[in-house]
Amino acid sequence: MPSAPNRGIHDGIASGTDRNGEAQAVDSWLGVPELVRTKKVPLPPPWDALFGPLRGSPADGLVVVGQIGQSLDGRVATNSGHSHYINGPAGLAHLHRLRAIVDAVVVGVGTALADDPQLTVRRVAGPNPARVVIDPGARLPAGAKMFARDGVRRLVMTAHDAKPQLPAEIEIVRLPSLQRRIAPEAILSALAERGLRRILIEGGAETVSRFLAAGCLDRLHVVVAPIIIGTGRPSFNLPPIERVHEALRAPMKIHQLDDEVLFDCDLSAQRRAIGAAKTSM
Ligand SMILES: NC(=O)c1ccc[n+]([C@@H]2O[C@H](COP(=O)([O-])OP(=O)(O)OC[C@H]3O[C@@H](n4cnc5c(N)ncnc54)[C@H](OP(=O)(O)O)[C@@H]3O)[C@@H](O)[C@H]2O)c1
Repeated sequence: MPSAPNRGIHDGIASGTDRNGEAQAVDSWLGVPELVRTKKVPLPPPWDALFGPLRGSPADGLVVVGQIGQSLDGRVATNSGHSHYINGPAGLAHLHRLRAIVDAVVVGVGTALADDPQLTVRRVAGPNPARVVIDPGARLPAGAKMFARDGVRRLVMTAHDAKPQLPAEIEIVRLPSLQRRIAPEAILSALAERGLRRILIEGGAETVSRFLAAGCLDRLHVVVAPIIIGTGRPSFNLPPIERVHEALRAPMKIHQLDDEVLFDCDLSAQRRAIGAAKTSM
C-alpha cells in the first residue's frame, strides 16, 4: 500500500508552512548534493524522504533511478512528440535535483533528437552530471546541446559496429548489440567502469521501459501532472501481461510537489546485480 502523501515541496520550497519553513527548506537544499555523495550525516528534512533512498549501496555499488514526467492519463508527450512542459515548476525542480545528486544523466537518442535537451542543473543549485546518450545507430549530430563543451563529461553508448562522427573529447563507448539493442546491464557496467555509479535514466519512455524490463532500476520516480493530454505517447512500453495480478506492484511512497504528485517506487527487490561494476562508491 502506498504511504500517506508527504505534503508540500515545490520548487525547493515547502508549501503549507510559514515563510520561515519555506526559507529553511531552500537553504537546507544547498548542501544536499554533497551530502548525498559523502553519506556522512542524514540529509536535512524534507530531503531525506525524497533522496535518502538514492544514497544506498547495493551490492554492486550502483544506484539507478528512472524518472518519468507524465499527465494524469499516462502520457509523456503528444502524438507529435511535444512534451515541453508536461510538468510544472515543482516537477521540473525535482528533475533538476535528481540531476544534481547523480554522477550521470542518461537519455535515449529519441529524446536527444526530439527535445535537444541541455541536461544541466539550472532550476536549483547543484553540480552538473556527466551527460550520456544511448545512440546505437550514431544518429545524434555533434551540434546537439548535450554535447556542448562546458567541462562536463559527455558519453555516447553505441553499437559495437557504429561509427559516430563526433569530436575527440566525446567519449564513445561501443557495446555488444543485437539488432541494435544494447543490454541495459552492459550500459550500467560500462558507466560504472568509468566511475559513474549513481545514474539517472531521464527518458524517454522507451529507454526507461527497457531499463525497467531488464530489472536495472533501483527506484522509479513518476511525477504526475494534473493535466489530461488525451492521445499521445504512453509512459511505458513493456511486454504485455494477461492478468492484472501479474502487474508490477512495487512498494512506493507518495510525495506532493505543489499540484503534482511524485510516486517513488522501490524496485530494489527486482534489481539485477551488475556483474562487472566496481563496488566502491
Ligand atoms: N515526460 C517525460 O518525462 C519525458 C522525458 C524524456 C523524453 N520525453 C519525450 O519522449 C519522446 C522520446 O521518447 P522515446 O521513448 O521516443 O525515445 P527515447 O527513450 O528517448 O529513445 C529511444 C531510443 O534510444 C535508443 N535506445 C534506448 N535504449 C536503448 C538500448 N538499451 N539499446 C539500444 N538503443 C537504445 C534507441 O535508439 P534507436 O531508435 O536509434 O535504435 C531507442 O529507439 C520525446 O517526445 C520526448 O519529448 C518525455
